[in-house]
Amino acid sequence: MVETSDEWIVTRTGIRERHVASADMSCADMAAEASRRALDMAGCTHEDVDLIICGTISADYRLPSNACVLQEMMGFPNAVAFDVASACTGFINALSIANAYIAIGQHKRALVIGAEKLSSMTNYNDRNTCVLFGDAAGAVVVEACDDGRGVLSSYLRSDGNLRSWLWIETGGSRHPYSPEFAFDSSDKIRMNGSDIFKVAVKNMGMAAMKVIEDAGLTVDDIALCVPHQANIRIIDAVTKRLGLPPEKVFINIEKYGNTSSASVPLALDEVNRQGRIKPGDHVVMVAFGGGLIWGATVVKW
Ligand code: ACO
Repeated sequence: MVETSDEWIVTRTGIRERHVASADMSCADMAAEASRRALDMAGCTHEDVDLIICGTISADYRLPSNACVLQEMMGFPNAVAFDVASACTGFINALSIANAYIAIGQHKRALVIGAEKLSSMTNYNDRNTCVLFGDAAGAVVVEACDDGRGVLSSYLRSDGNLRSWLWIETGGSRHPYSPEFAFDSSDKIRMNGSDIFKVAVKNMGMAAMKVIEDAGLTVDDIALCVPHQANIRIIDAVTKRLGLPPEKVFINIEKYGNTSSASVPLALDEVNRQGRIKPGDHVVMVAFGGGLIWGATVVKW
């Protein structure tokens, strides 16, 4: 479709495969599948969940939220459901909100999801972006506990001045949908990748270090880092900045590409199902995305 090569993509990004959902599979369909598996693993039912937060920038509809669509599909009679639009930081932001709601006693058990059908907003004539993005969903169940496990610290920041480094210019209320947008592809993702690269390395490193220190820990206390999977070179540079041994950093970008808000929960689920996280382990998650917005969290498993 574009002038590129496997060699360029693999060496510049680390991506070997991406998944593209079929036309009849929506973002909420993927979120539902991930949610079913998370609920199964947590051993709880739909009645037990009272909060559903979905990180996404590719919801099924502009209205209502993907989380409400999911609630209709799966039936959560006791929950409030809403979305968080923070691009690749969507899951970390959603987890931070769920933690805060649970901490103040407003909710007891949350389903936190990251789900994206980025193929629906990717310009397959733009080699700067189309080789990067894939479709995926991941989900976790979080609940109150009193034994010191859970989210120990979170950090989130954004810089809206840099919003046009990664954006979809048209189709919102400022420039409502018009058929002409299909010709200039302004209704698809545009990205200034090389500038984002530098800011991502700096801010992901800073955010991860901040949450580690805020949790009263040092880098040596971290058993595992689960970073947003945007580019293998970004992950390697952040790993070096933090002084983390590479074996403590989970990478699966080669199989999925950049799946935005789905990337962290997808990686977390994969590494967990491999049995690589033990109870009591400190896990740091860190992400960076369009907004620009970045953040990190430390969890005691
Ligand atoms: N195939 C071949 N050549 C390409 C391709 C491609 N697919 N894409 C770009 N190039 C070319 C460019 O045109 C450029 O050519 P030129 O020098 O003749 O102009 C050259 O490769 C170098 O381009 P750069 O943009 O400097 O390449 P870079 O090494 O920075 O890699 C990339 C690009 C992979 C996009 C990288 O910058 C990156 O990963 N950036 C961060 C992306 C990110 O983290 N985004 C935030 C999260 S996503 C979200 O929120 C949804």
